[in-house]
Amino acid sequence: MKKVITYGTYDLLHQGHINLLQRAKALGDYLIVGVTNDNFDRERGKLNVVNNVLERVDAVKATGLADKIIIEDYFGQKIDDIQRYGADIFAIGSDWEGKFDYLNEYCQVVYLPRTEGISSTQLREKKQKRIRIGIAGCGLIARRFVPESRFVNGIEIAGVYDIDSTTGSTFAASHSIAKSYPSLDAMLHDTDAIYISTPHLSHYEYSRRALEAGKHVLCEIPLALEKAQAEELYALANSKGLTLMEAHKTAHCPAFNHLMAMIKSGAIGEVVDIEASLSRLLPDRSRREFDPTQAGGSMYESAVYPLLPIFKLLGTCYNTLHIYSRMENGVDIYTKGVMHYPKAICSFKIGLGVKTEGNLVISGTKGYAYVQAPWWKTDYFELRYEDLNQNKKYFYKWDGEGLRYEIHEWISCIINKRSSNARLSQDESIAMAGVMQQFTERRNFTEI
Ligand code: CTP
Repeated sequence: MKKVITYGTYDLLHQGHINLLQRAKALGDYLIVGVTNDNFDRERGKLNVVNNVLERVDAVKATGLADKIIIEDYFGQKIDDIQRYGADIFAIGSDWEGKFDYLNEYCQVVYLPRTEGISSTQLREKKQKRIRIGIAGCGLIARRFVPESRFVNGIEIAGVYDIDSTTGSTFAASHSIAKSYPSLDAMLHDTDAIYISTPHLSHYEYSRRALEAGKHVLCEIPLALEKAQAEELYALANSKGLTLMEAHKTAHCPAFNHLMAMIKSGAIGEVVDIEASLSRLLPDRSRREFDPTQAGGSMYESAVYPLLPIFKLLGTCYNTLHIYSRMENGVDIYTKGVMHYPKAICSFKIGLGVKTEGNLVISGTKGYAYVQAPWWKTDYFELRYEDLNQNKKYFYKWDGEGLRYEIHEWISCIINKRSSNARLSQDESIAMAGVMQQFTERRNFTEI
């Protein structure tokens, strides 16, 4: 029996796929079809796939052409599969001409004619209305946002707004963005969604104005410095069917998400202690980060990062939080928070003027997870146990600045009309604002 193996994403299954499968099947007696897993697609930069892997497998199954369907999970798997299934022919569309010649060592490689004029990419673009995005605030982070947004399909950066019109127009010109708007309202009028990357104190107001104007919002951290403000914003977004997301990069980090899923599935037993730390020494004290009138300081700048693993694993209902800070000229250059949960204890450390070992350690009854700095954008972590033979290291891909992951999730929420996402729930984001507020009000607070 001659076995043929072929691979693809098969998103929004179309005639081109069917023709390819027919041609592949005709090469032998038995056809194995490898369908890419969602994670694998994400890893190789294909962030915009509409159907999830189960839907795509069902679609391939429904063609009746595949004798066996397998999932492609990792780079290098094709060689393993060819050997495991004893495939005689590896077949793929001619758009891949030459790319799989290295498989000739294992079986015959055949490039089949591709069907002209149709592709999943085209179908996705037709299906989705282009989302017009406006950027409010043209600083450092916005500069990273623009190139990262190019990895996400179906969007267009339609314009920018900056309180300083020269900054806005220079930014627009240097990033080939069509328009720099004279006011936020003018930009809101012309766009479907806005990304807010202005200084902290404008986040709440800009988000509220955008939501009131019926626009989706991706707002840089921290979304709000008061719990009630965060609650109000999410309630507003929910009532209008809009997607409001706090731009929390770590929440969308593939390695971090897998770590959370493994721990929630019991990989280290019951979680009893979490220690999370993050520091960034900034020598220039004239920066906004040190200005008390602009919500400077470690807490407002960075606390949402260490709070994420704590809230994800232990929830937002802690018994107490005590905050210890070293203050300098009205801002905390270092803060340590100690949180007591009914059956766990956690601490987080953040610093702009004090350097800490920036790792994340999650201790459980069966073992612990160790993520070295920079754990907030990690591509690697370890699970460690009493029996060292059980220790395991996990490696992932973290592309570019990593903003593409959060942008992709935001757009996917907008397209699929999801107001909330599991990676950073509204409750978690609101609880983060609650911690900021406790600090502002100096409740359970000790200066050191
Ligand atoms: N294919 C084809 N003719 C097309 C489209 C795809 O023969 N018009 C083939 C590809 O060469 C590949 C298989 O179908 O062998 C699965 O391809 P996939 O990447 O899933 O499809 P595309 O439509 O090319 O997807 P995308 O636009 O996301 O790249």
